[in-house]
Amino acid sequence: MTEGKRVVLGVTGGIAAYKAAELTRVLVKKGVFVKVIMTGHAKEFISPLTFQVLSGNPVFSDMFSQEYYDMNHISLAEYGDVMVVAPATANIIGKMATGIADDLLSTVLLATKAPIVACPAMNDNMYTHGVVQENIAKLKKHGVQFVAPGYGELACKLEGVGRLADIADIVEAIEAAWTEKDLRGEHILVTAGPTREPFDPVRFITNYSSGKMGYALATMAARRGAEVILISGPSSLPVPRGVTFISVASALEMRDALMTHLEGTTAIIKAAAVADYRPAVLSESKIKKKGPLTLQLERNPDIIAEIGAKKENRVLVGFAMESEDLVENARAKLIAKNMDLIVANDLHQSGAGFQCDTNIIKILDPQGGVEEIPLMDKMDIANRILDRVKILTNAKRS
Ligand code: CTP
Repeated sequence: MTEGKRVVLGVTGGIAAYKAAELTRVLVKKGVFVKVIMTGHAKEFISPLTFQVLSGNPVFSDMFSQEYYDMNHISLAEYGDVMVVAPATANIIGKMATGIADDLLSTVLLATKAPIVACPAMNDNMYTHGVVQENIAKLKKHGVQFVAPGYGELACKLEGVGRLADIADIVEAIEAAWTEKDLRGEHILVTAGPTREPFDPVRFITNYSSGKMGYALATMAARRGAEVILISGPSSLPVPRGVTFISVASALEMRDALMTHLEGTTAIIKAAAVADYRPAVLSESKIKKKGPLTLQLERNPDIIAEIGAKKENRVLVGFAMESEDLVENARAKLIAKNMDLIVANDLHQSGAGFQCDTNIIKILDPQGGVEEIPLMDKMDIANRILDRVKILTNAKRS
């Protein structure tokens, strides 16, 4: 997915050039091969040696150097799965927008067929200037993707829009840029995380769900071009880029959010660990300790069963975490709740379940099929689930 991919990183002359070093480090750590092109101005801010050491490759800058000619004139334009410009100054954006190729970076940018991700960073008066905004709009029309700068303190000590976007957001944009958009046209609703069922103003019952599986599904579906709505219970994970995010707490809130957004969806993936019960009474004041306390619980609605009863042409995928009789229990849920697929995982298997970054799953279908997916990263698991969803949505359409 990411390991073994190739990036050409163009670094231009802005104070944020030092952040491109961190971007290089993060990409290399993910197994990406990085080749760096620096403009002359970039070298005023940071030494090429930094990028050479971090990327493990020579740094290119001079169009007419022997070294560059020796490796074939346009090979950098063909090297990358994605070309990134970070930071992108107003100057390079202007050159890109007008087709100027007067140094190595601008020439390679014009010659490449790879997707281009540009990450502007500059003074906010420059960034909001009509000419820069027109250039950005023009480049977007030509397929250049922009990772918008953030708001905050700028190098000129003023506050404004112009800080280089977070490295995590840039990396996500790069990973999205090389991903095939095979889910374009799908409208996928994902639920994730635990629900929180309060019984007084400061206390609640919940479960250990981290949200990682649901967030991985939302991230990958968005990368693959789907319109994604992520309805999440409380989770500490960052909101995935490019999804519509709806934050909820209780099962009742999750059900309301889901029913509101059901219209127009082509697939619903219910990765949330919904609490089956909630306290029957919600005390308005904090419950004081006395003797033993008994909490009366009442059933929450079974959200997926409600959707299953009126799912129409949508693909419905549920999850089952079981501590015994995994396949039998999961199959019973699949049938009872009218799902198209159920993703089953075993609570006792190490490397599977709530808090880890990996999972081990079985995907069951109503025809009796069981696809066994061994231990892998939740992002890869998400892709395998989405591959199955894609087959089903296509089949339902035809
Ligand atoms: N689910 C739901 N609403 C609930 C409970 C569960 O939508 N009130 C969904 C979950 O999001 C999951 C699937 O149902 O996709 C299975 O959840 P699970 O808790 O394993 O199933 P239950 O049918 O509640 O069975 P159990 O008795 O094992 O809790």
